[in-house]
Amino acid sequence: MIPDLPGNIADIKGFLAGDEASALYRHALQASQLGPVLEIGSYCGKSTIYLGLACRRNNATVFALDHHRGSEEHQRGEYFHDPDLYDSGEGVMDTFREFRRNIRNAGLDDTVVPIVAGSEAASRQWHTPLSMVFIDGGHSLDAALTDYRCWTAHLMRDGILAIHDLFEDAFEGGQAPWAIYRMAVASGLFEDIGRVNSLGVLRRL
Ligand SMILES: C[S@@+](CC[C@H](N)C(=O)[O-])C[C@H]1O[C@@H](n2cnc3c(N)ncnc32)[C@H](O)[C@@H]1O
Repeated sequence: MIPDLPGNIADIKGFLAGDEASALYRHALQASQLGPVLEIGSYCGKSTIYLGLACRRNNATVFALDHHRGSEEHQRGEYFHDPDLYDSGEGVMDTFREFRRNIRNAGLDDTVVPIVAGSEAASRQWHTPLSMVFIDGGHSLDAALTDYRCWTAHLMRDGILAIHDLFEDAFEGGQAPWAIYRMAVASGLFEDIGRVNSLGVLRRL
């Protein structure tokens, strides 16, 4: 049971299963005692709310990084496109308005700090140690490698690296998250502390 979960959580658009959401909350609750959490890929804020509720209990911050233009699979004509999130005036996806609404309704405006930028651009001047990095951004190999290289370097010792959408079998889903997960394990820098559905969780040694 997660305290203060908004009543409309099931209606918030997103891509997170219930067991994955609970695991994110649990890890963020422990990790955020050490420092801020950073999420790459917030979309409409579903995962951000779970991370935010955990961080709020420790007076910690979630940096919620997303350019809010959608990933490849969210663009017009693609499988996960949602026309409600398309700005036809500008001709682009725009999830930021919906994200802000959901964060405000969840009472998390003082906990969640949005960073509306691409992952690589946001990382260039970053110097703050992070207690947890949750990677759920672009799923091309290039995007996933960028997220891994730009952000895991900022994880503090004992910090948590969580990666979403791990599919060992290519028939079940894209292979980029699985590739960076295997890279992290092979690096010897992380200890595997469990899998929940498609969420892999590692601890920085
Ligand atoms: C799968 S969705 C995230 C789902 C979200 N975590 C949830 O709980 O529903 C991926 C998000 O990553 C963002 N994204 C993709 N590539 C990005 C990049 N290079 N930099 C920043 N955000 C990116 C997209 O805009 C999209 O909102």
